[in-house]
Amino acid sequence: MPVDKILVIGSEGQIGTVLSHALRQIHGIAHVVTSDINPPRNSVIGYFEKLNILDGAKLHEIVKKHKITQIYHLAALLSAKGEQNPRQTWDVNMNGLFNVLEVARQEKIDKVFFPSSIAVFGGLSSKINTPQHGILQPQTMYGITKEVGEHLAEYYFNKFGLDVRSIRYPGLISYQSLPGGGTTDYAVDIFHKAVKNEDFSCFLKKDTYLPMMYMPDAIRATIELMQAPVENLSMHYGYNIHAMRFSPEQLLAEIHKYLPEFQVSYQPDYRQDIAASWVESMDDSAARTDWGWQERFDLAAMCKDMISNLQKIKHNGASEYDEKMFL
Ligand code: NAD
Ligand code: SER
Repeated sequence: MPVDKILVIGSEGQIGTVLSHALRQIHGIAHVVTSDINPPRNSVIGYFEKLNILDGAKLHEIVKKHKITQIYHLAALLSAKGEQNPRQTWDVNMNGLFNVLEVARQEKIDKVFFPSSIAVFGGLSSKINTPQHGILQPQTMYGITKEVGEHLAEYYFNKFGLDVRSIRYPGLISYQSLPGGGTTDYAVDIFHKAVKNEDFSCFLKKDTYLPMMYMPDAIRATIELMQAPVENLSMHYGYNIHAMRFSPEQLLAEIHKYLPEFQVSYQPDYRQDIAASWVESMDDSAARTDWGWQERFDLAAMCKDMISNLQKIKHNGASEYDEKMFL
């Protein structure tokens, strides 16, 4: 039976760190190649290739060298960082994806994963239980690149039969690595400050509701979508998936159950406008029907697990962080 050989692009980021580990557990260390524009944060497990995704020739060389059969393309600039440099965001997010799809088409890659986002919504999109096929009016360059990316993914499937699969992730919360420039990052940073007994200044208003998901659910969703039989999939652009909806104020109330002394102040900045343009919850019935999506973590379960893991990391010290974070 042919063996899957996987390339993760953007492996050193918030999702890539955890996803690469999960993929190694499923497919074996020798079958997962990680790559990023930045060097690995931890001691390298398996193969790592330094890659700027804008270098299509180098990407092609890596795919051929390792006989890659599946690509998880995570490299991107996120919403908040993206608004600081819209042109670079267009370049990395669009031309990077285009390079991946072209190499995948030429090398007859079996499957490509491309993450989309709640950022595709905005403007007249309905805010609650937002439909899968509703209005997309992204208000950020990041959201625009995700919407166009979804169209490109579908185009490559329809025109070339390239099996591209995609999820519109909500804001993701994890303890293993710090996020890199998103608007939902407050919901990760707040835990780090709480566990370190430091005050936290929140860049969103306390009543700003956003859809969120705990990383284990996001990783499982990604793997379950990639393992689903292609005939079960009704779309090759971003599936809505939903797990929980909360505001900074509600998150703080949950954290206070464990750390009652923790102090938060609110100093909304330009990220408030980005958050206000996004939706609060999504209708994910297509994902549930097509490939059995089902969340496991709600706000209470996520907070309990986050605080417990960050306290273990704090207790074990920084040197234990990288080694033990996945155990
Ligand atoms: P991140 O910023 O933490 O990681 C992105 C990684 O891409 C980084 O390691 C960075 O070094 C790398 N990268 C940036 N430019 C590159 C380039 N030119 N070439 C190669 N690598 C490059 O982001 P993340 O949170 O891990 O997100 C991964 C993907 O998931 C992105 O496409 C993002 O849009 C999407 N997503 C994330 C969230 C979330 O809440 N984290 C939500 C929705 C969608
Ligand atoms: N979490 C991401 C961000 O805030 C949404 O895609 O940019």
